[in-house]
Amino acid sequence: MNKGVRVAVVGATGVYGETLMRVLEARDTPVSDFHAVASDRSVGRSLEFRGDDYPVQALESFDFSQVDVALFALPPDLASDYASVAAEAGAVIIDSSSAFSLDPDVPLVMADVNEAALDDFRLRNIVRSPSGAVLSLITVLREVERSAGLSAVVVAGYHAVVGAGRAALDELAAQCGLLLNAKPVPAPGPVFASRIAFNSIALAGASLADGRSEQELAVENDVRALLGRPDLTLAYTAVWVPVFYGDGLAVNFTTVDGIETQALETVLAQTAAVAPAHTAAVPTPAAEGADQDFVHWGRLRATGQTGQEHALWLVADHVRSSAVNSVKLVEILVRDHF
Ligand SMILES: NC(=O)c1ccc[n+]([C@@H]2O[C@H](COP(=O)([O-])OP(=O)(O)OC[C@H]3O[C@@H](n4cnc5c(N)ncnc54)[C@H](OP(=O)(O)O)[C@@H]3O)[C@@H](O)[C@H]2O)c1
Repeated sequence: MNKGVRVAVVGATGVYGETLMRVLEARDTPVSDFHAVASDRSVGRSLEFRGDDYPVQALESFDFSQVDVALFALPPDLASDYASVAAEAGAVIIDSSSAFSLDPDVPLVMADVNEAALDDFRLRNIVRSPSGAVLSLITVLREVERSAGLSAVVVAGYHAVVGAGRAALDELAAQCGLLLNAKPVPAPGPVFASRIAFNSIALAGASLADGRSEQELAVENDVRALLGRPDLTLAYTAVWVPVFYGDGLAVNFTTVDGIETQALETVLAQTAAVAPAHTAAVPTPAAEGADQDFVHWGRLRATGQTGQEHALWLVADHVRSSAVNSVKLVEILVRDHF
């Protein structure tokens, strides 16, 4: 196919759908026909894409046979329901939710890492794009694994509320407004179970029987899968912090062979998706984690005496990096499969 791909962004009015549209525009992805789809609550609105206005179409009645690719930005339960509908109509679905994280027939694909796995989209016409935390971790840990072999990784993720959607942004803003005006927050929610303003919540996703959260389990599984290291010792703690945009990851790792800190710096400096130079010794979500495609790092240091244990701090815009990966997958489909 050289005249371009027919694309629908499904959930186009949400924060992730909107970011997918901006990334499609920024990357000049060859789009021959565009559709914006959301709930019937949004019918009557128009969304701008590449200078034209597109009316929002209702998901319930949308005809997926009009598109080659559907970029899903829906809550997981709806993604699960409508992916089959879209796939049966002949569209390839690229989903970034947790809906298919346990489905062995839905390939997990990260551009520039395991693109060959995209061939398996044919199993169900559905592809899974990793979460932003997984993309940042793989970008860095893959290089450490190649250089010195990983034996254990422990990560704390400081997640901006944008990861929970537009309602979460509104909830943080409203609670901040109340508290800064010396008014009480009447009750937490509807997005977060506890107050999020001036607070932090160490539970993202439902709690599982073994004490992990759904989101933690998904990150651990997906990092192991993309590194090709099912045996890797890996613990992830996900924390919601009262930050609107931009995510931070405190990463501690142990290598098999050991490596000098300076050699690690050289490895990171040569990694394409890592910020080309230190923009700040301590990157912050507000400065380096909003509207950026790079993973920024800082505070790289040895934490033991043997050269085997290190720690570093990563910052990235996980809404944007998720969208960039999904759009790259569209481009690979156009290049290799359509
Ligand atoms: N936010 C992120 O950082 C991020 C990053 C990667 C992946 N994701 C994934 O993307 C998905 C959406 O997340 P989000 O953060 O963009 O949430 P959001 O801001 O709340 O947006 C949700 C979208 O889903 C649509 N929707 C909700 N209920 C619907 C229904 N019954 N029928 C049709 N459309 C419906 C909404 O349309 P209306 O506006 O019409 O209600 C809206 O477009 C989630 O699965 C999330 O895990 C999010």
